[in-house]
Amino acid sequence: MIRKPDFLIIGSGIAGLSYALKVAAYGKVCMITKASEDESNTKYAQGGIAAVMHSPDSYQKHIQDTLIAGDGICDEEVVRMVITESTERIHELIKWGAKFDKTVSGEYDLAKEGGHSEHRILHHKDNTGFEIERALLVEIHKHPNIEILDHHFAIDILTQHHKGVVVNSRTPDITCYGAYVLNLHTDKVEKILAKTILMATGGAGNVYATTTNPTIATGDGVAMIYRAKGKVEGMEFYQFHPTSLYNPTENPSFLVSEAVRGFGAILKTIDGKEFMQKYDERGSLAPRDIVARAIDNEMKTRGDDYVYLDCRHLDKEELLKHFPNIYQKCLSVGIDMMKDFIPVVPAAHYMCGGIKVDKKGRSSIKRLYAVGECSSTGLHGANRLASNSLLEAVVYSHHAANDAIEQIKIIPQLEDNAIPDWNAEGTNYPEEMVLLIQSLREVQAIMTNYVGIVRSNLRLQRAFDRLEILYKENEALFLKTTVSTKLCELRNLINVAYIIIKHARERKESRGLHYTVNYPKESKKSN
Ligand code: FAD
Ligand code: SIN
Repeated sequence: MIRKPDFLIIGSGIAGLSYALKVAAYGKVCMITKASEDESNTKYAQGGIAAVMHSPDSYQKHIQDTLIAGDGICDEEVVRMVITESTERIHELIKWGAKFDKTVSGEYDLAKEGGHSEHRILHHKDNTGFEIERALLVEIHKHPNIEILDHHFAIDILTQHHKGVVVNSRTPDITCYGAYVLNLHTDKVEKILAKTILMATGGAGNVYATTTNPTIATGDGVAMIYRAKGKVEGMEFYQFHPTSLYNPTENPSFLVSEAVRGFGAILKTIDGKEFMQKYDERGSLAPRDIVARAIDNEMKTRGDDYVYLDCRHLDKEELLKHFPNIYQKCLSVGIDMMKDFIPVVPAAHYMCGGIKVDKKGRSSIKRLYAVGECSSTGLHGANRLASNSLLEAVVYSHHAANDAIEQIKIIPQLEDNAIPDWNAEGTNYPEEMVLLIQSLREVQAIMTNYVGIVRSNLRLQRAFDRLEILYKENEALFLKTTVSTKLCELRNLINVAYIIIKHARERKESRGLHYTVNYPKESKKSN
């Protein structure tokens, strides 16, 4: 049986789930996800979701903060649209059952993070993403029109350019008709045909050696769209979170939320000296690109493996109330954050660029929408303001859903045989997993050493040359080998690494997260 839903959704994070809840009243929804249904970046979001709830905050202040973080290249209309819709989308999340912490007086307990001029982060302790994912999944399970297929891996989207596709396309535009999906329960490749397709595959943190992202974050959506000749932009802007727990044997790296600095924690070098004022007058709460670069510089010039986050002066009771999971995690590795410094290092965290979309979440490929971290809307510009990503996902899923609901009324469904079955050219299993594992390590090492927080023309050239070898080796392996998640993820990470390097080489300036020694930029110092 070939599945032919009205709405195919690839990914079950906040973007995919909130979109599904909106479209399900209008047609059949099939949501595929490559791991268990709750595994996603969303699940690990700590700090919260930014929104304007009441004075003294205002839309204008939030807009201004977003534009400043974005370093001059945000799409101002998009920023205005997302921020002014923030309050409404938060009320919708609350209606769906998400619980955000309140103060004793019953108001939302709004936190502050780097680059925000006001307290405006709604949160659920220090595991906001987990709470949102939980609430959305409860609602999803109630809906008879939504089918979730867990452990189903999208390999590639289907367009008229696939060999053997028979469709009447009157325009030269690329059109998406569905996806080839590897059913990991059966190890068979299935084709799913749909009237509309939503890409909601999240980020690609695993393209770097150290990341806060879970292992599912391998940039699959961006790679699929790039291979299908869709537009991808802004990939040079990969955000490193300044403070992941330094624990070299642990992967992914555990995040120590920016909200902890918002709460008053201070960054220090390992001799106990504050250093952020040297780099920016906003100190430990400057925007992320500045803090991550400052830490990187201190570590490199001093020859240290990490810096410290000092929480010892903070109110213990309040700290425990707000950050119980971070406190427990630190304790589990022998650090009592009330008495000890926390060793921290920057880690790859968020993909600001991605699949280019318009204000309705429409990509350059017909029938295909992209929402959430895999998309590039223009909101973040060269650097994302903390806690703006969960917000972006819910605002864009709303817009994309409204458009898709109209589209399915006029889009005809394809005949089963219009699209050929997966052509399994490769029939061998890779003799040695070490081929894949070693190539993955090489990609991550290339990206970390040459395309990380600080770049140069020479490093980018070297990264490009090295990656080409891995690309050729992996394409050859892909053709002769039975598809598997590991092989496809490696292929996608190589594609994503290639795009990051390509976009970084094209940008002949330092801006936001893209910092190159060949085009240095003055930092905003206090003196
Ligand atoms: P995800 O939540 O990552 O979901 C992607 C989904 O796609 C997953 O279900 C995945 O399995 C599936 N998928 C991927 N590839 C395939 C494939 N080939 N086939 C099938 N399924 C696939 N943002 C904030 O705004 N506030 C925060 O406090 C915050 N804290 C964070 C803390 C951490 C540790 C991390 C990692 C991120 C944080 N972020 C935060 C960023 C934010 O969580 C993400 O940007 C956001 O959750 C992305 O949502 P999404 O729905 O786009 O993608
Ligand atoms: C954090 O809690 O520091 C993460 C917030 C974010 O990435 O937006």
